[in-house]
Amino acid sequence: MAAPKADAGEVSRNDFPAGFVFGVATSAYQVEGATNEDGKGDSIWDVFSRTKGNIKDGSNGDIAVDQYHRYKEDVELIAKLGFGAYRFSISWSRIFPDGFGNKVNEKGIVYYNHLIDYLLKKGIQPYVTLYHWDLPYTLHEFVGGWLSEKVVEYFALYAEVCFARFGDRVKHWMTINEPLQTAINGYSIGIFAPGRHDNPYKEPYLAAHYQILAHAAAVDVYRKKFKATQGGEIGLVVDCEWAEAFSDKEQDKIAVERRLDFQLGWFLDPIFYGDYPAVMRERLGDHLPQFTQREKKLLRNSIDFVGLNHYTSRLIAHATCATEGPFYEVQELERIVNWQGGDLIGERAASDWLYIVPWGLRKVLNYIAQKYKNTPIYVTENGMDDEEKETAIIKEFLSDEKRIEYFKGYLGAVAQAIRDGVDIRGYFAWSFLDNFEWAQGYTKRFGLVYVDYKDGLKRYPKSSALWFSHFLKGKSVDE
Ligand code: BG6
Repeated sequence: MAAPKADAGEVSRNDFPAGFVFGVATSAYQVEGATNEDGKGDSIWDVFSRTKGNIKDGSNGDIAVDQYHRYKEDVELIAKLGFGAYRFSISWSRIFPDGFGNKVNEKGIVYYNHLIDYLLKKGIQPYVTLYHWDLPYTLHEFVGGWLSEKVVEYFALYAEVCFARFGDRVKHWMTINEPLQTAINGYSIGIFAPGRHDNPYKEPYLAAHYQILAHAAAVDVYRKKFKATQGGEIGLVVDCEWAEAFSDKEQDKIAVERRLDFQLGWFLDPIFYGDYPAVMRERLGDHLPQFTQREKKLLRNSIDFVGLNHYTSRLIAHATCATEGPFYEVQELERIVNWQGGDLIGERAASDWLYIVPWGLRKVLNYIAQKYKNTPIYVTENGMDDEEKETAIIKEFLSDEKRIEYFKGYLGAVAQAIRDGVDIRGYFAWSFLDNFEWAQGYTKRFGLVYVDYKDGLKRYPKSSALWFSHFLKGKSVDE
């Protein structure tokens, strides 16, 4: 299969510093399967996706792409393609099936030991996320999930076990993936587990609050008990679309700042500066929980690096009335405009929210650097999807030229941000392989590697995987 030849002057491996990390990313529920095997307990996603009507194609992650049984094949493929790192997440309910931390499930430990050891054997660094949305179901059912302060303690306990059992080999930890999505989609709109939308004026802010505190508690454990001996680093993964002002009008610029504060500042301000952004405090009043002095102290600088998941950008204009939807009703006075002067902000991928706007990544990286002390950043997810088509033949998916263009554009934007002086340490493509895309089920394909759901979950690298592989080896595709 041939991928396009590199054009003169386009992004190359040499545009990145020598130690720059290139990896691929996944998350436990999206790829592992084996959901009730070897003692694993249910997570909120197990229960949510088994409930009729929650997932677009009625599917779930019971089998997913079966990485639990095929991790060796997957690791070998990652190595063959030339990536130096694999970002995956640990399933909390595989380690503590009851969620409460009463008894470690040794079989869960064995699985991740095997995965980590095999990665290292093949020369791939593990980048491990402790929480990618799959809260043990018991913690939701009996404790109240992210609406309860108690979950903070349970998370710290779980994190400690992970550091103790895997930290001799894992040197890059991420506490929580995209707390914003859990807060909004899980506790306001209800399209993600645990599917709550009962009190959108309060619950998303509580769920965010306790995730932020859980992050800080886990970092505290790591720094106090493990960092000196294990020498690793620990960060949080936030997601942020770039927001570009629709016009030069002052009000549009203010709308942009407000939006970035509500997406990114919501999580990074407490972690860097000890409190929520002023605009959130003003607008939300009593809806926004408060941090105690002790918590503020714990929060400040509780981060070694920022993990950034970035997919797309928006044009943002001031609006005179709030846009619809519970979340925005409370907090925003702006409107998303994706057209300007008759042109779309960027070409669209399969998902209706995903416009291809590489320059937006350069801007968001610069924004984070300026606002958050030029802390090291990893781009922990970046990629685009194709629509699953019943009638399509595999070949159509394998020649994914659009995805190659996406990666070229976005990698170019990262290279430019590095030249701007932003301290970026690595880049992870989302996703290593097609997988269970949450509420979209298997209807969207984000993979560099195609998975044949109709024929034994066989893996086939797409053109984009081959392009990436040549890029990493510093070769043109025909060499
Ligand atoms: C990111 C998540 O928000 O977006 C990934 O961290 C997810 O887990 C990706 O797969 C794509 O989003 P979605 O909702 O289309 O699956």
